[in-house]
Amino acid sequence: MDYRIASIKGDGIGPEIVTQAQKVLKAVGEKYGHGFEFMELLMGGASIDVNGVPLTDETVEEAKKCDAVLMGSIGGDTRTSPWYKLEPSKRPEAGLLGIRKALKLFANLRPAYLYPELKEACPLKEEVAARGFDMMMIRELTGGLYFGERYTKEIDGVMTAVDTLSYNEDEIRRIAIKGFDIAMKRRKKLTLIDKANVLDSSRLWRKVTEEVAAAYPEVEYGVMLVDNCAMQLVKDPAQFDVVLTENMFGDILSDEASMITGSIGMLPSASLNETKFGLYEPSGGSAPDIAGKNIANPIATILSAAMMLRYSFDLDKEADAIEEAVKKVLKEGYRTIDIAAPGQDQVKCDEMGDLIAQRI
Ligand code: IPM
Ligand code: MG
Repeated sequence: MDYRIASIKGDGIGPEIVTQAQKVLKAVGEKYGHGFEFMELLMGGASIDVNGVPLTDETVEEAKKCDAVLMGSIGGDTRTSPWYKLEPSKRPEAGLLGIRKALKLFANLRPAYLYPELKEACPLKEEVAARGFDMMMIRELTGGLYFGERYTKEIDGVMTAVDTLSYNEDEIRRIAIKGFDIAMKRRKKLTLIDKANVLDSSRLWRKVTEEVAAAYPEVEYGVMLVDNCAMQLVKDPAQFDVVLTENMFGDILSDEASMITGSIGMLPSASLNETKFGLYEPSGGSAPDIAGKNIANPIATILSAAMMLRYSFDLDKEADAIEEAVKKVLKEGYRTIDIAAPGQDQVKCDEMGDLIAQRI
């Protein structure tokens, strides 16, 4: 079958890592008889440089015509890049938030799995790493603080900034259902992370999620406060299966979850809407400090491509092939700089792409 994929390489290490994922998809296409056509689109800083804005209607429209979106990363160094002299709504990140909203990508899936081969790179205590972990963090992506009303103005002579955290029950219900559906395909455990001891929005999350939970009696449902979760993730990550949370908490906790896998360069993500359509990107950022040096870890992006095959195209066996190829190169001892143990040989970004593509 033929698939049309919107490719948004973006900024920083984005172009290097997406190129490797395209290489791996090409290998999958050759082996399994699929055609993957890439439609290159601009977003973030790359779009600002050409169009003056981080996201154009054209990019959104072209992306909608494709079967899925494969993305790298957007943004630059916030202290030095001229993009950050622009007003906030014109900066690179606004492009990413804009496309998430325009494509209604409310469900962000960030799986955090500790590869046995990377136990050395895991910063946790040896006995914790030895137990391993395999969780799916599900972050609500189109609501909450990211999209609430915000302003900065002088109130009674004092400069005041306001960001609004708001959720309605429909927004919560649709992601809770997604969470429980995913839990049913995994170890059947779901933990809602919130701050219900303080926030009204969290209390609504609890109420609605509990209602949804009643329809999934097989799933062990629990709740945990976000501060405790931050602690539990480093103390006992093996306790988690599906972790469900709102946008901002999910942003923070998913970075933490990725770091305990050894490197943020290992963590893929899928952002899905109500249909099969999705945007797939590594969870990490554009890493401007290492951009263009061919040393970035492309594995998160390659695994994001595997998620695309699985969730948008229903190509499970092809997705398995990518995940197995990644495991194989890790087992064979190949490491990019971020996951290499001291003294271990390192491969470049493009070599890692070649090695994985060869093992498809
Ligand atoms: C992420 C990123 C984005 C976010 C930034 C770049 C706006 O950190 O995808 O986690 O906060 O959602
Ligand atoms: Mg983030």
